[in-house]
Amino acid sequence: MNDAKLSIEKLNLEDFEKCQNIWDMQSDPKHKDKFYNDIKNGNRITFICKNENGGFLGEGSLVFNGEYENFTIPNERIYLSHLHVKPECRGQGIGSLLCDHIFGYCKKNGYSEISLVVLLSNFRALKLYHRLGFTTILDLFEGDDGENLGMLKKL
Ligand SMILES: CC(C)(COP(=O)(O)OP(=O)(O)OC[C@H]1O[C@@H](n2cnc3c(N)ncnc32)[C@H](O)[C@@H]1OP(=O)(O)O)[C@@H](O)C(=O)NCCC(=O)NCCS
Repeated sequence: MNDAKLSIEKLNLEDFEKCQNIWDMQSDPKHKDKFYNDIKNGNRITFICKNENGGFLGEGSLVFNGEYENFTIPNERIYLSHLHVKPECRGQGIGSLLCDHIFGYCKKNGYSEISLVVLLSNFRALKLYHRLGFTTILDLFEGDDGENLGMLKKL
């Protein structure tokens, strides 16, 4: 992939609907509303990977407080949420690029740890997160969609 044609930028709330290009927000209004309100109230920052035409290809978010107990600690541990790449653009490094950008943002802002939750059945994401340094297990718990693994990376 030619990274020079890609850019990563913070999402402005007025562009929120454009995330429909990445994932089907219309069919998941619960998450759509939650993410919108979290960004609005300042508890979530979303980063967008765009192509040279400004098209939305992927996103990844940071959550400062809550989400899951023990997964955030003020000014120390931050939570990586909803890393998602448009299906036809997967396997080209966009997920890794977004994560690298997000890690840099966290470090610059004084965080020393980043956490996430991933479904145990999501082998592709598990492999990616392991490669990116999420090597500490925080928790293992049953969720609505199956068994979840909570993981931590030192920044
Ligand atoms: C998980 C996800 C964000 C990864 O994004 P991505 O842009 O495909 O990530 P990358 O290209 O940087 O890396 C994907 C890995 O899968 C491999 N891969 C090969 N073919 C692939 C394909 N067709 N699609 C996706 N990944 C592929 C890549 O080579 C890479 O392997 P590596 O980690 O050994 O280097 C993406 O698959 C996705 O959006 N999945 C659905 C949402 C999801 O499950 N999110 C995670 C929630 S915790």
